[in-house]
Amino acid sequence: MTVDADPVILRTDNVAKSFGGLRALNGVSAAFRRNAITSIIGPNGAGKSTYFNLLCGALSPTSGKIEFDGRDVTGLPQHRFAHMGIVKSFQITTVFPQLSAHENVRVAAQALVTTFGLWRPRAAYRDLSEKADRILERVGLADRARRAAGLLAHGEQRALEIGIALASDPRLLLLDEPTAGMSPEETRTVMDLIVSLAQERTIILVEHKMKLVLGISDRLLVLHHGELLAEGSADDIRHNDAVKRVYLGQRSH
Ligand SMILES: Nc1ncnc2c1ncn2[C@@H]1O[C@H](COP(=O)(O)OP(=O)(O)OP(=O)(O)O)[C@@H](O)[C@H]1O
Ligand SMILES: [Mg+2]
Repeated sequence: MTVDADPVILRTDNVAKSFGGLRALNGVSAAFRRNAITSIIGPNGAGKSTYFNLLCGALSPTSGKIEFDGRDVTGLPQHRFAHMGIVKSFQITTVFPQLSAHENVRVAAQALVTTFGLWRPRAAYRDLSEKADRILERVGLADRARRAAGLLAHGEQRALEIGIALASDPRLLLLDEPTAGMSPEETRTVMDLIVSLAQERTIILVEHKMKLVLGISDRLLVLHHGELLAEGSADDIRHNDAVKRVYLGQRSH
């Protein structure tokens, strides 16, 4: 079996993370399927962002192992994760508010080619510019391309951040609460975008509002007190008694 035929792209084996005396994550083992949307849900303080940061290489686990594409990547620096195609939205660069949406995406795309030594001055500008156009179209910002990023609406800025992440051609895109602070309308737009992006790549989504992601996730992991409480399809999670207990009484989840 070739590596590409492996349905699992990313795997954690008993990973734990402590901050001083606090054990934020306590031995989580899970497998993430290629070209699927997997959501990590759980109440506040469950360890979701900590787990997310281990998955994208922003943090190293205190113990346990992380495998990407069958390779042990535990403890590698984050830029190595990025070079392998593991990208979290917002990691590459912050949005430059005075640059246009198009320039923001182009700069991110340029960072990729220069990093990989693929820089060809004559063809490069046009290629990068066309790539930025394609990405802006993809994230629904084609008609905002020339507008300064700082003048975009909140939802548009978040879409631009996803566009900046896409500029580095991620195979695995990680998003931590991508709709935080958005109106219901903006939220729907970004959720639709995430579903369409998942056709071509693997997506891992962190969200504490379970209802928001049940409908779009192929698999869900539920964290609670730093442990994996449940995992499965939306139906499995909807009917899981332990999950119901954890979410019980938590309004708007
Ligand atoms: N850098 C850090 N230093 C110390 N403690 C931390 C750090 N990051 C997280 N924690 C603690 O680890 C626990 C898990 O936090 P984490 O941010 O992973 O939870 P979360 O599920 O993302 O919560 P939320 O829904 O609020 O985003 C919390 O008790 C938190 O206070
Ligand atoms: Mg969090």
